[in-house]
Amino acid sequence: MSLFVRKPMASLMEEAEETGSHTLKRTLGAGGLVALGIGAIIGAGLFSITGMAAANHAGPAITISFIVAGFGCLFAGLCYAEFASMIPVAGSAYTYSYATMGEFIAWIIGWDLVLEYAVGAATVGISWSGYLVKFLAGFDIHLPNALTVGPWDGGMINLPAVFIIVLMSLLLIRGTKESATVNAVIVALKVGVVITFIVLGWRYIDSSNYTPYLIPATEPGHEGFFNHGFGGVIRAAAIVFFAYIGFDAVSTAAQETKNPKRNMPIGILGSLAICTVLYILFAHVMTGVTNYTTFLGKDSKDAIAPVYVAIEHMGSTTNALGIVQPDYPWLNRAIVVAILAGYSSVILVMLMGQSRVFYSMSKDGLIPRIFSVVNPKT
Ligand code: ALA
Repeated sequence: MSLFVRKPMASLMEEAEETGSHTLKRTLGAGGLVALGIGAIIGAGLFSITGMAAANHAGPAITISFIVAGFGCLFAGLCYAEFASMIPVAGSAYTYSYATMGEFIAWIIGWDLVLEYAVGAATVGISWSGYLVKFLAGFDIHLPNALTVGPWDGGMINLPAVFIIVLMSLLLIRGTKESATVNAVIVALKVGVVITFIVLGWRYIDSSNYTPYLIPATEPGHEGFFNHGFGGVIRAAAIVFFAYIGFDAVSTAAQETKNPKRNMPIGILGSLAICTVLYILFAHVMTGVTNYTTFLGKDSKDAIAPVYVAIEHMGSTTNALGIVQPDYPWLNRAIVVAILAGYSSVILVMLMGQSRVFYSMSKDGLIPRIFSVVNPKT
């Protein structure tokens, strides 16, 4: 049999229409899918990378970079929406490539997806651990380095990272509906913090921070076409593209979606649209309250995150002890909570996507059967 044999549409449709306790249940509606998308999308990209890309490449025009990247995502989102409503099974791009380009390409794409979701969840888990350590340090609770850093970075084991991955896995084991409910709560929290930042920050915008809007070629450290001007905006767009990753994971829930023809496009494009608007506003406020150069070197290793710097520039009041503080010192704590919660939902949806790709590959016999055994209860 050819390596390029394609999976017939008829058998995909049969799979999509399967019912019973041995298959995935259709429990998700449009709202749950939009929340799933936002859960996977908003994370490190917004809170950390926005500031870094502005400082190094785009300047205040990082807002334009988000528009450019969002435009690129729109086309990818339209493809995903079309395929996911046409072939509503769990495998996402793996299944689409099986139907169109054959088994060999599908096998590669399937493992690519598994790798993407595994590495994504692990990386965000490590980042989550770093923020937890900083958050607890704010309360004078100091976790030992050996237990919070992996063996390749001078520690023994990164226990908080293991903890969050296990916690999210346990939640997924409880069931799709339960996971979607927890995800919705997390999403409400992180979107709430993002909107609070935008609304409170808006009145601290100083338009002089937008001049010059593009980094001039003469600025030190910005030589090279892709480090300043419009070239820098394009380079930053490629970097902040990371902030949009996640809308694709919605398509792995196609087999658990009620009326996927209608709800899949709403879930994928709806979450993308909401995040695009939030990103543009967030970037505009972030580079408006302080000069983009203040974000330089403020990645999550050196500070909480570049957004922390922006909040420090939102006003200044002197407290009873004579200490000068930003007007909303609590907002920085809220941002860390949003980051911790937000990263959890990114991990949740990545792990969910990974297991669904495994499920589809296993059903097709490309990996052992155990990966497509469905618990009838959960
Ligand atoms: N879009 C996700 C994030 O920004 C991956 O963390």
